[in-house]
Amino acid sequence: MTDRVTRDDLPGGRPSGLVGKRIADYRVESEIGRGGMAVVYRALDLRLDRAVALKLLAPELARNDTFRKRFAHESRVAAAIDHPHIVPVFEAGETEGVLYIAMRYVAGQDLRALLDRAGPLPPEQAGRIAAQVASALDAAHAHDLVHRDVKPGNILVAPGTDSEHPEHVYLTDFGLTKKSLSLTGFTSVGQFVGTLDYVAPEQISGRPVDGRCDVYSLGCVVYETLAGVPPFRRDDDMALLWAHQYDPPPPLTEERRGLPSAVDAVLGKALAKAPEERYDTCLQFVAELRAALMGGPGAALPPPAPPAWALPVFRER
Ligand SMILES: Nc1ncnc2c1ncn2[C@@H]1O[C@H](COP(=O)(O)OP(=O)(O)OP(=O)(O)O)[C@@H](O)[C@H]1O
Ligand SMILES: [Mg+2]
Repeated sequence: MTDRVTRDDLPGGRPSGLVGKRIADYRVESEIGRGGMAVVYRALDLRLDRAVALKLLAPELARNDTFRKRFAHESRVAAAIDHPHIVPVFEAGETEGVLYIAMRYVAGQDLRALLDRAGPLPPEQAGRIAAQVASALDAAHAHDLVHRDVKPGNILVAPGTDSEHPEHVYLTDFGLTKKSLSLTGFTSVGQFVGTLDYVAPEQISGRPVDGRCDVYSLGCVVYETLAGVPPFRRDDDMALLWAHQYDPPPPLTEERRGLPSAVDAVLGKALAKAPEERYDTCLQFVAELRAALMGGPGAALPPPAPPAWALPVFRER
């Protein structure tokens, strides 16, 4: 086996053709998963003798100058964020025309796999996961970095430390490989790659985005962790884009019976069409979500009108 990289080994090529080969200072050990624009491998960092996750980007991205510049810039910003719920980036670079990112290898599964396997999550677990993702996003926003691609596949769920913290959640793919829909959403043949289930209305219409687009996407993810389905389901992509922009999301309590009705208003605010009507931060959203989830059925309903015997009594003097 040669250790030279050929085109066939890269994303879009034969699966796992790279196993055993060397890329920069890493030896590829096994394929972990692939998305639309990249393949992620478990690899050995030969200098430090430790496991890493090595992400190789599709070759057409390396040929796109705008993308290369953004890749270099955003890798630096993402690597500068040191946060317990963000996958640390060790190195980002280019070798033989291949753009790669080496990051901490997270043992566990992503939230997509967890939802596919376990279905809707218990409210407490959904709340814990949302809180960890929210803290990662707010930290990034404080660095002026917007994720733009918050979705279950970018949320890694590893075993936690103890029964108080049953899972440790990492957010990955921080602005590194994404994304304006025009740059990477469509392949050169115009086929859409990736998912539109979590995309904010302002991303669709090409308006400027800020951290509040991540609030929207987190809202979609939270909705799915509780309901088992994302807020909008349509037969084709155009209808789905339309729904994000114009249709009200179905109340969460209609999709999952038994949740306190207060959650509907919280999700409604996170999923507001206009960014200025959403929560300002992800942690505000999740704090209200958890308070609503704790409240029990009907928690947010106004109290019933008092019966006659409970009406205030005003004595005439
Ligand atoms: N640091 C990591 N440690 C362990 N597994 C990882 C790591 N980063 C990514 N993965 C796994 O690799 C899979 C593929 O990742 P990738 O980012 O290429 O695709 P995606 O996020 O599913 O889709 P997209 O192409 O839209 O980003 C992920 O779903 C995840 O399970
Ligand atoms: Mg990803």
